[in-house]
Amino acid sequence: MDILKKLGDCGVIPVVVIENPDMAVETARALYAGGIDVIEITLRTPTALDSIRAISRAMPCMLTGAGTALNCEQTQAALDAGAKFIVSPGLDREQALFCAKNGVPLVPGCVTPGEIMAARSLGLDILKFFPASVYGGLSAIKALSAPFSGIKFIPTGGVSISNLIDYARSPAVFAVGGSWLCTADDIKNACFDKITELSKDAVKVWHSVDIRNNGGMQS
Ligand code: 3PG
Repeated sequence: MDILKKLGDCGVIPVVVIENPDMAVETARALYAGGIDVIEITLRTPTALDSIRAISRAMPCMLTGAGTALNCEQTQAALDAGAKFIVSPGLDREQALFCAKNGVPLVPGCVTPGEIMAARSLGLDILKFFPASVYGGLSAIKALSAPFSGIKFIPTGGVSISNLIDYARSPAVFAVGGSWLCTADDIKNACFDKITELSKDAVKVWHSVDIRNNGGMQS
């Protein structure tokens, strides 16, 4: 399975903070019912690894990754728990080399030309653009994709159903990430039907764009 391709095919990556790992599988099921088969569990709670482990075991159909993985140690722990891809808010050379050595897909955050060039030299061409709304959003991505035409971005931070279509229309956007699909509150309050509906809406918008429906650059 080409893991990065699967991220691009899904297009909308839920960035999830789960406090209670007992809610993890239900949350993943709700996303899956809405047409989303990837999930990024952020390592921002003491029990994040338990959530990754639970979803990986219960739902092999769900591509489960770890977000906010800041170094090699956290990366290794996430892999041990079953994570299939790693997302980092920034570029860490040691982590990138570690992932390359172990054949693990890594999506590091890069927002400046220098960071993008450093990532390229490490063989990385799908990059998180975070926090997107702070670093110029779509107009920054468009400007950066002029010199870096081979780079595709996953904007995250400030993406929502209201601006999703704009990101989806950009050929430089590989996928988007966001927490709006399943917020910490919705998970805590077991609003699983709501999560499914929000997921369906997002998938519909993402796949409404022709460059992807017509087998454009992500196919
Ligand atoms: C994050 O890492 O927290 C993501 O960027 C989510 O941002 P959002 O809450 O604006 O979607």
